[in-house]
Amino acid sequence: MAPYHIVLVHFPLGLWMTATLFIVLRAFSDGALAKTIDRALVPLLSVALVFGLLAFAIGLLVWPWETIASTPLGRNHVLTASWTVACWAILLWVRWRRGETVWDGMSRWIMAGLALLGSALLGITGTLGGHLVGIYSDVSAGLRLLGWEVYTTFYVPNMTLVALLVIAVLLLGFGAWSRIKAR
Ligand code: HEM
Repeated sequence: MAPYHIVLVHFPLGLWMTATLFIVLRAFSDGALAKTIDRALVPLLSVALVFGLLAFAIGLLVWPWETIASTPLGRNHVLTASWTVACWAILLWVRWRRGETVWDGMSRWIMAGLALLGSALLGITGTLGGHLVGIYSDVSAGLRLLGWEVYTTFYVPNMTLVALLVIAVLLLGFGAWSRIKAR
């Protein structure tokens, strides 16, 4: 399955990086070009998500779970891949459900911020994947400066997951409260 994973990951990589450019352009510009490009965003993000999920699913079949989960490098690759897919799925959902209103007011910067976060996660996922096959990049030197040693650091103890869950619930509550207030 390894060759399939390696071929497949190039689709979400290319499509999500393109989507980042589109979103950042639209966040900064209300011009005709940015608006035209924005109309392609939902189809682009949908195709990217399908390929992202396929790459993810095939990734799970490359090595036995015991093998990929036995090192911080492998676990972080799976973890950042999950966050990447989740982040881009949220962007798709928000743009699809809220339409062009996502570019009103502060939301345009939230869109740009999420897109940059999604790209950063994607870059780190790819970097860690590269290390799994013995191809290194300078991104890992950057991560080392932040205190993340790609072969040894594994940062997600249970309490972090609990904190993430609490933040997610708070954000949902905040969203529901804002909606009620807006009525
Ligand atoms: C969207 C999600 C993912 C992306 C973007 C991604 C990206 C990558 C990249 C760029 C490589 C290096 C390929 C190369 O340079 O030749 C790689 C390798 C690898 N990935 Fe992923 N990956 C994803 C999800 C996963 C998942 C969920 C798993 C497993 C649970 C996984 C397991 C692996 C393994 C085992 C390798 C090494 C392949 C080999 O031995 O040839 N990946 N990945």
